[in-house]
Amino acid sequence: MKVENVLNCSFSSWYSVFKDVTTKSLVIPLPQEFLEYLHSDGLVLPEQSVAASSNENADEDNIIGEEIDWSTEDISTPVAEPPKFPEFENLVKKSIKKLGGCVFPKLNWSAPRDAAWISFDKTLKCICPNDIYLLLKSSDFITRDITQPFALCEDDENYKNDVQVKYELVLRKWREFNPSNEFRCFVKNGSLIGICQRHHTMYCSFIGQHKDEIVTDIQAFFLHVIQGNFSDKSYVFDVYRRDQGKVLLIDFNPFGEVTDGLLFSWEELLGNERLNGEQEVPAFRYIEKSSGVQPNPYTTYAMPRDFVDLATGEDPQKLIDFLNLKIQQQDSDDESTPEINLSGSFR
Ligand SMILES: Nc1ncnc2c1ncn2[C@@H]1O[C@H](COP(=O)(O)OP(=O)(O)O)[C@@H](O)[C@H]1O
Ligand SMILES: [Mg+2]
Repeated sequence: MKVENVLNCSFSSWYSVFKDVTTKSLVIPLPQEFLEYLHSDGLVLPEQSVAASSNENADEDNIIGEEIDWSTEDISTPVAEPPKFPEFENLVKKSIKKLGGCVFPKLNWSAPRDAAWISFDKTLKCICPNDIYLLLKSSDFITRDITQPFALCEDDENYKNDVQVKYELVLRKWREFNPSNEFRCFVKNGSLIGICQRHHTMYCSFIGQHKDEIVTDIQAFFLHVIQGNFSDKSYVFDVYRRDQGKVLLIDFNPFGEVTDGLLFSWEELLGNERLNGEQEVPAFRYIEKSSGVQPNPYTTYAMPRDFVDLATGEDPQKLIDFLNLKIQQQDSDDESTPEINLSGSFR
C-alpha cells in the first residue's frame, strides 16, 4: 500500500464521482487553527459553542443546589483559554442546516467511532458544532488521521513526511442504518474477491437466509457503479443494502492492513490463493451461528461496563450488589475492620 492509494480514499477524492450513489455530504476545509486545536492536549470546547449550547439547554427551574458560589476568585489553577473559530463555526452550522439538522462527522478518512461512548446517545449523531468538536477531540481514530495517515505505507519515510494533506471536515446527512445490512467488499486487481458483514461481532439470521440475493445485489452494484470508476485497481468499499436491489455506497478504504479485514485475514486477502476456490463469485462471509459472535472491538474505548450499568441503572442486580457492598463496608468501618470482601460482587 502506497501514499497514493491512501490519498485516493480521502473523502473528497471520490465523492464527486460517486455522489449519486452515496449519502449527501458537505466538505469544509479545516483552518490551520482548528487543526492545531485538534492536535493540542486537553479538552476545552470553543467559546461560542459552549455559550450557544448552554443557552439552548438553560432551564433555570431545574437548577439544583442554590448555594453554589461560582466566583472564580479562589481558583488557583489557570483555566485554558477557550479557542474561537467563528467563520469555521458558521460554515459548520450552515452545513448542518443544509443537511437537514442531523449530521455524521468525519475527517478525510476516519469517523470518530471510538469516541461514540462520550456522546449523549452513544452515537455519532451531531446537531451542533459542539457535538462535533467533542467527538473529534475525544477520538484516537481522528488523531491517527491528522498525525500519521500514511503510517503503514511502504513509501520512503522522507517522502511520507513531506506529503501535504488538505484536511477537511466531512459532514454527511445522518441516516439510521440497520447494522445488519452493511457489508465490506474487497476488490483486488479490479475483481471483487470477497464480501463480508461490516459489523462482524453480531449474529443476524437475515443474512444467512438472504445470502444469495445479497451477493447478487452487491456484485451488480460493483459491476455497474464502482468497477472502473475508482482511481485504484485494489481497494475496499463499504455498502449499505437498504432493500432488495437497492445498494448505497458508504465509504472507500485502502486495500491493506490499515483497513480492518473483519472476517478475512490480510494474509488471505494479499496471498495468491483464491478466496472462493475455483468459483467465479466472490467469497461471502458472515456470522453463521449466534455462538460465533466475537467481542465488540470498541468496548476497549468505552468506560468500564460496571460503571455504565450502575450509572444508567440498566442492571438492577448490579446496583443491589453495589449497595450491599456499601452496607458491608459501613458495617466493617463501624467495627473498625478495614477488610472488604469484593469477590463475586460484580458479574
Ligand atoms: N451518514 C451516516 N449516518 C449515520 N451513520 C453513518 C453514516 N455514514 C456512516 N455511518 C456509520 O458509521 C460507520 C463508519 O462510517 P465510515 O464512513 O466508514 O467511517 P470509517 O471509515 O471511520 O469507518 C458506518 O459503518 C455506518 O454504520
Ligand atoms: Mg472507512
